[in-house]
Amino acid sequence: MKIIAVMNQKGGVGKTTVTVNLAAGLALNKQRVLLIDADLQANATTALGLEPNQKGGAVYDLFAALTKQCTMKDSLLQRPVSHQNKKGVLDVVPATIALSGFDQLVRALPNKQVLMKQMLQNYKNYDYILIDCPPSLGLMTVNALVAADEVLIPVLPEFFGLQGLSQIVDTIKFLQNSLNPDLEIGGIVCTRYNRRNIHQEVVRCLHDRFDKKLFGTKIYENIAIAEAPSHAQTIFEYNPHSTGAHDFDILCRELLNRQIHHDNLQIEQQRKHRKQNQR
Ligand SMILES: Nc1ncnc2c1ncn2[C@@H]1O[C@H](COP(=O)(O)OP(=O)(O)OP(=O)(O)O)[C@@H](O)[C@H]1O
Ligand SMILES: [Mg+2]
Repeated sequence: MKIIAVMNQKGGVGKTTVTVNLAAGLALNKQRVLLIDADLQANATTALGLEPNQKGGAVYDLFAALTKQCTMKDSLLQRPVSHQNKKGVLDVVPATIALSGFDQLVRALPNKQVLMKQMLQNYKNYDYILIDCPPSLGLMTVNALVAADEVLIPVLPEFFGLQGLSQIVDTIKFLQNSLNPDLEIGGIVCTRYNRRNIHQEVVRCLHDRFDKKLFGTKIYENIAIAEAPSHAQTIFEYNPHSTGAHDFDILCRELLNRQIHHDNLQIEQQRKHRKQNQR
């Protein structure tokens, strides 16, 4: 299982777009996927056309699950996804505006930074858990980064896009030295790309700085990607033949291939380790 926090404290860089379509793409590739909407704007929840379960005045969303007013199982929604003849299903923990009270409610708790990690402890049977983070470095983002194995960083190919990256790298280093020593940068993905000179230049800078961490796949600027959420559809459903659907399909494959490569390296290392111990 891999827990991926999709994070960038800068607003509007494509975090939600990447989370929703990558989660859908992975589910279409037969992966068991959970999407957690950790943003009080609830953009991922609405983009998928979902509304949290309600019973007797209680709303079963991420806020309720984190603050133990319900279990994560109570808050889970299922969202079928399709792309041409492929089908899959996504599990989703939805968000509501109730998350605006999260920081204040949990501030005094000793476990305020590990609530999400604790919530996920009994849910090991997913291949991927994707967390759509809010555009801030508040307690919710810290919870996501403490629970995560990897951070996936969507970046706009602009000068200001590069600037914010140092702050993210510092935050990740801080967590590596404190609450989550195993946290890694899983990848940087360039969004809303369109081959302008400045875009190409920024991609070169990203490549120089992050090397293989930069995904080879870029998500091109594509109007269908921007339109899909207002139809409560993923790009695969809204426009299956668009460049957006193509880009996200390729991004999914690249992520899955990286995982295979990563797993093979680990097996190889374990084998070497065993051999050394036998000598
Ligand atoms: N590749 C793309 N082509 C065209 N429009 C895009 C693309 N990616 C994202 N957008 C649009 O850009 C806007 C911002 O995207 P998105 O909401 O995913 O960013 P975000 O980082 O989640 O924002 P926030 O920080 O507010 O949570 C949205 O209107 C979205 O539809
Ligand atoms: Mg968002």
